[in-house]
Amino acid sequence: MEKKKPCVVLGVTGGIAAYKACEILRLLQKRDVDVYVTMTKNACHFVAPLTFETLSGHPVAVDTFERPQTWEVEHIALAKRADVFLIAPATANIIGKMASGIADDMLSTTVMAAKAPVLLAPAMNTGMWENAAVQHNLDVLKARGVHVVAPASGHLACGDSGAGKLENVEIIVERTIELLNKKRDMEGVRVLVTAGPTREAIDPVRYISNRSSGKMGYAIAESAAKRGAEVVLLSGPVAIPAPSGVEVVPFTTTQELMEQASMRALTQDILIQAAAPADYRVETVASQKIKKQDGAPMTLRLIENPDVAAALGSAKKPNQVFVGFAAETNDVIAHAEKKLERKNLDMIVANNVMRPGAGFDVDTNIVTLITGEHKEDLPLLSKKEVAERILDCALALRSKKMHLR
Ligand code: CTP
Repeated sequence: MEKKKPCVVLGVTGGIAAYKACEILRLLQKRDVDVYVTMTKNACHFVAPLTFETLSGHPVAVDTFERPQTWEVEHIALAKRADVFLIAPATANIIGKMASGIADDMLSTTVMAAKAPVLLAPAMNTGMWENAAVQHNLDVLKARGVHVVAPASGHLACGDSGAGKLENVEIIVERTIELLNKKRDMEGVRVLVTAGPTREAIDPVRYISNRSSGKMGYAIAESAAKRGAEVVLLSGPVAIPAPSGVEVVPFTTTQELMEQASMRALTQDILIQAAAPADYRVETVASQKIKKQDGAPMTLRLIENPDVAAALGSAKKPNQVFVGFAAETNDVIAHAEKKLERKNLDMIVANNVMRPGAGFDVDTNIVTLITGEHKEDLPLLSKKEVAERILDCALALRSKKMHLR
């Protein structure tokens, strides 16, 4: 059976650089990529849809309500088709619409429906490029995981000189191919992820827990599965649906997590411990509901739980990559570095949970990736994007270990 070609949906918006999209289309085809084009009405003033139709061999989508429709609901069909969604050139207008969630034509509705990685290649006048609103919108989009090939500097069509020129088409095509390939770069890699809080019972109706939502661990499991990894997710009690293609194994207490993780750890290539296991449990769990004691203070005696990461870390095999998290409120880096060493981890993801946008129950995070050799401060990013960066780093550590042997 013939292998299905990867598909790039190329969105073309209305700027003078629109003609360069023809070259991008041709270069992608040379790399064995199937290209579908969607254009804004303004883009049609610069290049006729017929040009893209002839070059791509597919109908070009411009108008959401055009008849006869080639697909049932055209923008959704096109969005599903995309392995990568490239917008080149991307005007300030489409950047603004995407950042604000506006979908009022074929291109903007299609990109909104797409689940594939999105790459923007902006091109505009220098003044527009440097405008604070445009830069803010790009930051918003980057934090949501949208990729951007920044424009080059040079002589612009409007007569000005400065930043805003569409980046070299070869570079744009290279970035697109990287994103296409990246999609399945974890094929055959076994990954165990832990996520969420634990619950340590006090009596049949009460427990001790913490504020972990499980979002970070779930995002990692989902991204790893999308990139082709075989993923097992050990999950504490959380309110998130299971990511598709991931085996989810529930745990409630730290001791249960310890059992489930120890059973599987030695057969994994990468272990990512995003769970927040309780360090202590109640020494004697009451078998009946504990009653109030007429105003007398009540004491709970707690005993220490096993440190799962440290126990697994001490039995780590040479090629395995173990990643831990350090959610701190003070001296973040120093505490994280100590944990990296004490738990025999290859990387620790440190965050200050007191910073707005980081930590519990939010969809974003601000972390520092720390390995034995270097530290990388990441900006405020979506947990999905943080997950991708953690996986990139874990894969790099793994290939380094494998080459050293
Ligand atoms: N961890 C673990 N078992 C525990 C506690 C933590 O496996 N009993 C793991 C977490 O999953 C995380 C890392 O160790 O990857 C750091 O967790 P954290 O709670 O920050 O560290 P602790 O070792 O508990 O240190 P402390 O509570 O003193 O900050």
